[in-house]
Amino acid sequence: MVAAVRVHKHGGPEVLTYEQVEVGAPGPGQVKIKQHAAGLNFIDTYFRSGLYKAPSMPFISGNEGSGEVTAVGEGVTDLKAGDRVGYVLPLGCYAEERLAPADRLVKLPANITGEQAAAMMLKGMTVSYLVKRTFVVKKGHNVLIHAAAGGVGLIACQWANHIGANVIGTVGSKDKAELAKANGCHHTILYREENWVERVSEITKGEKCEVVYDGVGNDTFPGSLDCIKPLGMFVSYGSASGPIKAFDINLLQFKGSLFATRPTLNTYAAKRADLIAIANDLFEVVGSGAVTIPVNQKYALKDARKAHEDLEGRKTTGASILVP
Ligand SMILES: NC(=O)c1ccc[n+]([C@@H]2O[C@H](COP(=O)([O-])OP(=O)(O)OC[C@H]3O[C@@H](n4cnc5c(N)ncnc54)[C@H](OP(=O)(O)O)[C@@H]3O)[C@@H](O)[C@H]2O)c1
Repeated sequence: MVAAVRVHKHGGPEVLTYEQVEVGAPGPGQVKIKQHAAGLNFIDTYFRSGLYKAPSMPFISGNEGSGEVTAVGEGVTDLKAGDRVGYVLPLGCYAEERLAPADRLVKLPANITGEQAAAMMLKGMTVSYLVKRTFVVKKGHNVLIHAAAGGVGLIACQWANHIGANVIGTVGSKDKAELAKANGCHHTILYREENWVERVSEITKGEKCEVVYDGVGNDTFPGSLDCIKPLGMFVSYGSASGPIKAFDINLLQFKGSLFATRPTLNTYAAKRADLIAIANDLFEVVGSGAVTIPVNQKYALKDARKAHEDLEGRKTTGASILVP
């Protein structure tokens, strides 16, 4: 038996239950992993609350992690006991040990620590596809990133800065503004106090942005559309404040023939070749030092409830991990 955090019924952070679970031997195509750490992500709260449907109940929380392979099942040829791996998997990461499909695991380069991997496989690969595939950020672009001091946000600020974009970030407090600035954000806006749409216009001298990356959702819509240049791109990649409600698609016409997309890492990394390419792009920028992965909160696995309370209470910055 090993320790894990399970959800037996949907609800608030209090439904996260620390308990013992059985982990069997790996089946065909699977490996067994002793986990180094699990990453904390907003998507974990969506599964916990029931906004996203888990395939079965009860389920073990957590969608990001890293660890060491301890056993391989039938048919697994490219992994062996002792290999270090990182992963984004639908659930099962808040646990000391787990089984995982070998074809969704990524071998970690020697220069990426287990802690870094647990903190970045989901958040960093998300930024990887957002800035290189969903919308190709280029030198000189004006880029608006909401919740710039968050887990995805701090990585996105550094990566867009590294490419040479003019990075504008919205944040919930002055401390978060300083942190975002220290991580490559050129201009910060306190979006709970300031008229952020007007501020974006001022900062860009009326030009607005080529792209807006919006993981906040309900509270920043439709304002985000007013920050985008004609023919620019609205990338709605998350719903930290709740999902955007149904809207009239003609809005995109009136705001300047805008493009809008609601992408997910699952779609972009569905094929193994894409998963590896997206991960390699991330390993490259982290390995070169262009992007660092700030692990600003570490929780014991048994304190998952506190971790969710802090994440939903806007108390965390950068990445957080849960350590068994
Ligand atoms: N589509 C994908 O592939 C994908 C993959 C990974 C993550 N995501 C999305 O990316 C977003 C960020 O995820 P993350 O795990 O890195 O979280 P995070 O940004 O570390 O935390 C969420 C942040 O959102 C801001 N926020 C604004 N309104 C909020 C509200 N009502 N309640 C709570 N927070 C609010 C807060 O920052 P301030 O205090 O600065 O406002 C908070 O710190 C989420 O929407 C997540 O679903 C999407």
